[in-house]
Amino acid sequence: MAHRFKSDLSWSDVTPETVYLNRRAFMTGATALAAGSIAAPGLAATSAFSTDEEPNAWDEITQYNNFYEFGTGKSDPAEYADALTTTPWAVEIDGMVDKPGSYSFEDIMSAMTIEERIYRFRCVEAWSMVIPWNGFELADLLNMAGVQEGAKYVAFETLYRPEEMWGQKRNFIPWPYREGLRLDEAMHPLTIMATGIYGKDIPNQNGAPLRLVVPWKYGFKSIKSIVKITLTDEQPVASWNQIAPHEYGFYSNVNPEVDHPRWSQASERRVGGGLLAKRIPTLMFNGYEAEVASLYEGMDLTENF
Ligand code: MTE
Repeated sequence: MAHRFKSDLSWSDVTPETVYLNRRAFMTGATALAAGSIAAPGLAATSAFSTDEEPNAWDEITQYNNFYEFGTGKSDPAEYADALTTTPWAVEIDGMVDKPGSYSFEDIMSAMTIEERIYRFRCVEAWSMVIPWNGFELADLLNMAGVQEGAKYVAFETLYRPEEMWGQKRNFIPWPYREGLRLDEAMHPLTIMATGIYGKDIPNQNGAPLRLVVPWKYGFKSIKSIVKITLTDEQPVASWNQIAPHEYGFYSNVNPEVDHPRWSQASERRVGGGLLAKRIPTLMFNGYEAEVASLYEGMDLTENF
């Protein structure tokens, strides 16, 4: 089991949006009571990792997406992702694990504890959102498969099914979409596999039925609709790094001090703020510096961007 963070709360499986909003109202009134986590009777507890920033609306989160398997426009995924069949679904876990094999989505879900995590989400394109995910810690899944000594990285792959994902008929990305993490990043308790948003099943356009969420890294690391996870001792291929290595590093930690070659990363536009809204400053490690900076101690973050 992954170690639990700060407090060992009992998490609710789902938080309907109405209850969720009530809870938010309740929490605002009771902020002084606890720093971040309040277990109100009958209401979902929120993680100590959750931000208390206002989450984006469901429509913003589900209609402004990047999922190039369904086209490159921001509204393409919402328009075309219905074509994706997500049942049955299985994740192949292989490489340096004790129990390699095909894990069905149902088996995974029955073994995992679903929590709510309200995370900031920062795309490399300099827009951002706050998203109330439901999901489980990736560490729990990796421990279920049994990580072998010597494994140093985790590689992920999205489904390849061009008959349902029309964008895969164009070759600007060498499909399937791939991503990777160092093992310690993958085992960090902030790293989750998301299966829901606002207590509902995660919509196809957001990466159904399960997608990675690594909140201190640029959004493209958070690979969607995963069918394969490989434990390895070699740094895996990551799609954007493969396509444009001088623009997208393997690490891709959010860093306001290291600009993209074509634009500044010092600030961001919060989606939903309106066209006249002021940009907000981008935070080191997207605001998760206290939790993750130690993972990169001694590393030159300009070099290892
Ligand atoms: N995963 C796959 N398979 N294909 C993609 O095109 N886009 C990435 C990431 N995961 C992408 C992907 C990028 S660039 C971002 S910013 C996030 O998904 C967007 O997640 P969201 O649409 O849920 O906000």
